[in-house]
Amino acid sequence: MNIVILGAPGAGKGTQAKRIAEHYGIPHISTGDIFRKQISERTPLGVLAQSYIDRGNLVPDDVTLEVVRNRLAEPDCKEGYILDGFPRNVFQAEALGGITALDAVIDIHVPVSRLMARLTGRRVCPGCGESYHVDTLEGKNTCAKCGENLYRRADDNEATVAERLSVYASQTEPLIGFYNSLGLLKTIDGDKDKESVFAKIRSVLDGLYDNH
Ligand code: AP5
Ligand code: MG
Repeated sequence: MNIVILGAPGAGKGTQAKRIAEHYGIPHISTGDIFRKQISERTPLGVLAQSYIDRGNLVPDDVTLEVVRNRLAEPDCKEGYILDGFPRNVFQAEALGGITALDAVIDIHVPVSRLMARLTGRRVCPGCGESYHVDTLEGKNTCAKCGENLYRRADDNEATVAERLSVYASQTEPLIGFYNSLGLLKTIDGDKDKESVFAKIRSVLDGLYDNH
C-alpha cells in the first residue's frame, strides 16, 4: 500500500505515520525528518534546507523531489510506504503521480485554533522520534519509551509556526481538493486523542488492505 498522510503543521502526521508504519510494516518517509537529519549532519543539503525551514518556508521543489525520488527507489519501498509531509503543493503532487501510484491519501483534520499550542509545546525524542507535549510531561524531559532527552524543534517557535500555518493554507490545503477529485481522499477527525485517531485510520486502511 502506497499511502500519503496530509494535514496542517501539528495535525499529528508524524505521530500517526509512525504508528501506521509499525502496524503495517511499511517504511515511514518524512521529508521533514530527512531534512532535519541532513541539518544535524551539516551536509550541503542540510545547510540549504535549513535556510528555508528556519523561516517556515518550503524547501525548493526540485531539491525536495530529488530527495523523495531517491528514497522511493530504495528496496524497502517495494511493498509500500507512508509518505509524511510530501507532497506539499500541487506541483509536488503531480510530480509524485509520475513516479508512483497511490492507494490512499489520509487527511488528518484539526481546527487551526488547536495547532499553535500543540507545536509550541511539542518535545521530540531524538532516539525513537516520538512526540510529546510539555503539558503531559509532568516536568520530566525524557522519552517514556527510550529514556533519551527530548528536544524542541527550531521551527516550533511562535513566529515560525505562524508562517508554516500560512504556507499550509496557501500551498498545501489545495491538495485536499486535488486528491478528493482523484477519489483517494480519506478524511479523519484529528481532534481526538492519539489512540482514537489511530483506531479510525486503521479501520480505513484495513478496509483498503482487504480489497488490495
Ligand atoms: P515537517 O517536519 O513535515 O513539519 P510540518 O508539516 O510543519 O508538520 P509537523 O511535523 O510540525 O507536525 P505533525 O503533523 O507531524 O504533528 P506531530 O505528529 O509531530 O516539515 C518541516 C519543514 O520542512 C517545512 O516547514 C518545510 O520547510 C520543510 N519541508 C518538509 N517537507 C517538505 C516538502 N515536501 N516540500 C518543501 N519543504 C518541505 O504532532 C504535533 C504535536 O501534537 C506533538 O506534540 C504531538 O504529541 C501532539 N499531538 C499529535 N496528535 C495529537 C492528538 N491526537 N491529540 C493531542 N495532541 C496530539
Ligand atoms: Mg511531523
